[in-house]
Amino acid sequence: MKNNLDKTAIQQIIPRHIAIVMDGNGRWAKAKRRPRLFGHHQGVETVREIIKMCNSIGVECLTLFAFSSENWSRPKEEVNGLMRLFMMALKNEAKSLAKNGVILEFIGDRSAFSEKLQKKIAEVEALTASGKGVRLVIAANYGGRWDILQSSKKMITEGLANGIDIDHLTEQSLQQQTATQHLPDPDLFIRTGGERRISNFLLWQLAYTELYFTDVLWPDFNRSELQRAIDDFSTRQRRFGRTGDQVLEEKTNA
Ligand code: IPE
Ligand code: IPE
Ligand code: MG
Repeated sequence: MKNNLDKTAIQQIIPRHIAIVMDGNGRWAKAKRRPRLFGHHQGVETVREIIKMCNSIGVECLTLFAFSSENWSRPKEEVNGLMRLFMMALKNEAKSLAKNGVILEFIGDRSAFSEKLQKKIAEVEALTASGKGVRLVIAANYGGRWDILQSSKKMITEGLANGIDIDHLTEQSLQQQTATQHLPDPDLFIRTGGERRISNFLLWQLAYTELYFTDVLWPDFNRSELQRAIDDFSTRQRRFGRTGDQVLEEKTNA
């Protein structure tokens, strides 16, 4: 018995929304005595595999943390290399993403990126917008605190313009201004690379997300590791504040 669930009764549950902190590229490269950027390049290969798997098993949305608002403080050479890699990956993958129905979009403050990169991002977003497959959300120059601040500002500005009474603002009013307002909150959060922290990823959105941490470094993460995470997720009892008995009762009545 685990989490009050009979093990034989556990079925695979596909999360609607998976959010991943892709960590460990640098250490993976270091272990191979290669430059950190080599690890980032290999990380793109993992991204490709994970998108394919999510698309085929029916995950609605996959959000990947590609560059945090704090990552600008890395050595200039690494930051520049990452920017070049984003550009290259967008160029190389655009057509195959569109062909496979993947809808690509970016969240984060993209104004900090070069004009060229911003243009490319907009181009691939437009190219893939009508896809019917998994929605791939790349968090780049994203920070959870930034998101809460920018959504608060928008909520207040709109509220003032529409003469809204501050007491009428709700959690939903803020949610509607977040970078992920059109997405369900993540069901499953995965962090590779061994660290057990959120690192300023989707702070508001992760309130009731199931957390999964693995020591596997991102370039070594693969389909079977993702399957392992989904299997683990499938054993969790999501209570959202209720009791385990209430949840079971609801399930039997459904
Ligand atoms: C994650 O891998 C990728 C980015 C932050 C862009 P890291 O580069 O953080 O890898 P480690 O943590 O140094 O191994
Ligand atoms: C988080 O990884 C950001 C991304 C994966 C893009 P970091 O490697 O930057 O996180 P910290 O600094 O170890 O918390
Ligand atoms: Mg790291």
